[in-house]
Amino acid sequence: MGGVRVGVAGLGVMGWRIAKNLRDDGLLVGVYNRSVDKALRFGREFGVEVFKTPADLARSVDVVITMLSDDDAVRSIIAGEGGVLAGLRGGSLVIDMSTISPSTSIELANLVRSRGGEMVDAPVIGTSVAVERRELVVLVGGSEEAFNRARDVLQHTAKTIIHIGPNGYGLYAKLINNALLGSYVVALAEVINLGRGFGLSDSVITDVLTRLSSARSPTSELKVPKILSGDFSVQFALLKREAHWLV
Ligand SMILES: NC(=O)c1ccc[n+]([C@@H]2O[C@H](COP(=O)([O-])OP(=O)(O)OC[C@H]3O[C@@H](n4cnc5c(N)ncnc54)[C@H](OP(=O)(O)O)[C@@H]3O)[C@@H](O)[C@H]2O)c1
Repeated sequence: MGGVRVGVAGLGVMGWRIAKNLRDDGLLVGVYNRSVDKALRFGREFGVEVFKTPADLARSVDVVITMLSDDDAVRSIIAGEGGVLAGLRGGSLVIDMSTISPSTSIELANLVRSRGGEMVDAPVIGTSVAVERRELVVLVGGSEEAFNRARDVLQHTAKTIIHIGPNGYGLYAKLINNALLGSYVVALAEVINLGRGFGLSDSVITDVLTRLSSARSPTSELKVPKILSGDFSVQFALLKREAHWLV
C-alpha cells in the first residue's frame, strides 16, 4: 500500500488516538481540529503538520479521516466553508468514522462523489482503550473499491474491519448495536434494582450478572459495578439526530 498520505480531522478522545496510531506507522501527514490548541499540541508532540482548515488538509493527502461528534460537526467539516470538499483532490478517499445519521452520511457521500472523490461511513465499536490496543471493530458502508482502500488504512488502528454494504450501511449496523446496548443497560439497571429488592447482596448481584449469567457480557462487567456504586457519569451522548426512532 506504500506511500498513502493520510490526514485526520477531529482530535477528540478517539481521533487523537487514531491519528497517533497512523503517525506511529508513518502514514500521517497532518491534522486539523476545530480548537486549534489541541491540533498544535498534537503537531508538537508527534511532529506532523497542523492545517488551518479541513480544505488545506484535504489538498495535502490522499485519504481524509474524520472522527467528529455528530451530524452538525461532520457536515461542517466536510461541506462547510473551508471544508474538505473545498480542497478535495480527484480520487481522494474520505473515511468518516463518526457515529452520525445514515441519511446525513449518504448525502455527504454523494457530494464527495460529485467532486470526484469517494467516501465511506466507518463507525466503530470499541472505546479509546480499544483504539490504543488497535482492537477497534469498524463497520464500513461504501463501494467495494472504496472499502478495500479504507481497509488498507484502517488496519493500522483497528483489528476487525467489515464491509457491511453501500453508503450508510456501516451506520445502520452501528445503530442496531447501540440500540441493543441501550436496552441491555436499562435491563441491567432494572434487575439490579430487583435483586436489591429481594435482599441480595451487591456481591451476589455482581457475581450473577458478570460471571454466572448466560447473559453476562463485557457490558455487564463494565456497567454493573458502576450502577451498584451509583456512578452515573456520562460516557457518551445518548441521542443523535434522526436516530430517535431507535430509542
Ligand atoms: N468515545 C468513545 O468511546 C466512542 C466509542 C465509539 C464511537 N464513538 C463515536 O466517535 C465519535 C467521536 O467521539 P469522541 O469520543 O472522540 O468525541 P470527542 O472527544 O467529544 O471529540 C469530538 C471531536 O469533534 C469535534 N467537533 C465537535 N463539534 C464540532 C463542530 N461543530 N465543528 C467541528 N468540529 C467539531 C471536536 O472538536 P473540538 O476539540 O474543537 O471540540 C473534537 O475534535 C462520535 O461520533 C462518537 O459517537 C465514540
